[in-house]
Amino acid sequence: MKSITFSNGDKMPIIGLGTWKSKPGEVYQAVLWAIEAGYRHIDCAAIYDNEKEVGNALEKAFKEGLVKREELFITSKLWNSNHRLDDVMPALKKTLKDLKLEYLDLYLIHWPVIFKRGVGFAQTREEFYTYGDVPLEQTWEGMEEAKKMGLTKHIGVSNFNIAKLQEVIKTCRMLPEMNQVELHPFLPQNKLVNFCKENGILMTAYSPLGSGDRAASSKKSNEPSLLQNEIVKELAAKHGVSSAQILISYSVHRDIAVIPKSVNQDRIAQNLASLEISLDESDMEKLKNIGIAYRFIDGSFFTGPQSPFKLTDLWEKE
Ligand code: A2P
Repeated sequence: MKSITFSNGDKMPIIGLGTWKSKPGEVYQAVLWAIEAGYRHIDCAAIYDNEKEVGNALEKAFKEGLVKREELFITSKLWNSNHRLDDVMPALKKTLKDLKLEYLDLYLIHWPVIFKRGVGFAQTREEFYTYGDVPLEQTWEGMEEAKKMGLTKHIGVSNFNIAKLQEVIKTCRMLPEMNQVELHPFLPQNKLVNFCKENGILMTAYSPLGSGDRAASSKKSNEPSLLQNEIVKELAAKHGVSSAQILISYSVHRDIAVIPKSVNQDRIAQNLASLEISLDESDMEKLKNIGIAYRFIDGSFFTGPQSPFKLTDLWEKE
């Protein structure tokens, strides 16, 4: 399978199964279907509230000999309420326990946003910390410790813009190896992709299909559709594949890992089969000039009036 390569030579399969929004009751079967279909990369996070069930599926897959641990690439993420140095390791250990694993392949700081311990989603001012209270440097030190202890093979971040990456790079002892961000033809993230390339940071694209299954409350009424976009549909017809496969292939062609979420057996298999598509330069040019700029996960849930964080703490100006 096509993969991207860390500086020590370790490889990450370029297509992984996304598990955000996969409900307990669905995700167990989805992970097993994915492994059976040939996926070797599963993207998880503590806040998805389904890691125990993912862990049950992994345990079954190992027991039945479907796959060996060392053949799988498993990512998870540190939630916003565990950024203090003392909290990083316990949070990672809880994730490992839930996933029934001895180590992760990749552990990411989920957001550059900080909540007090035990807070799920901060609403009031008292539930937030500021960068003054818990500098990113402190959280990163916890991540480095986790890597040193062998609890994760690689460490990185998610939803970090160039300024935040620079801050980590300036003070770290171990460089961030990954930045996972929303990325698709409506949000190509060119500046960030170039910065990451220049600094040896790999990238993963989340919400590659536009995350249509988000809660209605987090959607705007006039959102554009990636799956129904005319250019995407035209390329799907040209290649005899689905719109979703074109969107997945778009990241694969940019050497960016991509983690489409599905809990449907056919779509899980279909998404992995995107690896077989060969987009030519004119196809990529069409996607580059799609003419719509849109961010689906806008971060406004972290930057309300009570929050010390602003959208400029999160996003790059394109
Ligand atoms: P389902 O889980 O029922 O397959 P994203 O990865 O951008 O978050 O998008 C996930 C959404 O896209 C889910 O609603 C998922 O539904 C749907 N989806 C996943 N794969 C496909 C596909 N091949 N074609 C159409 N929709 C898909």
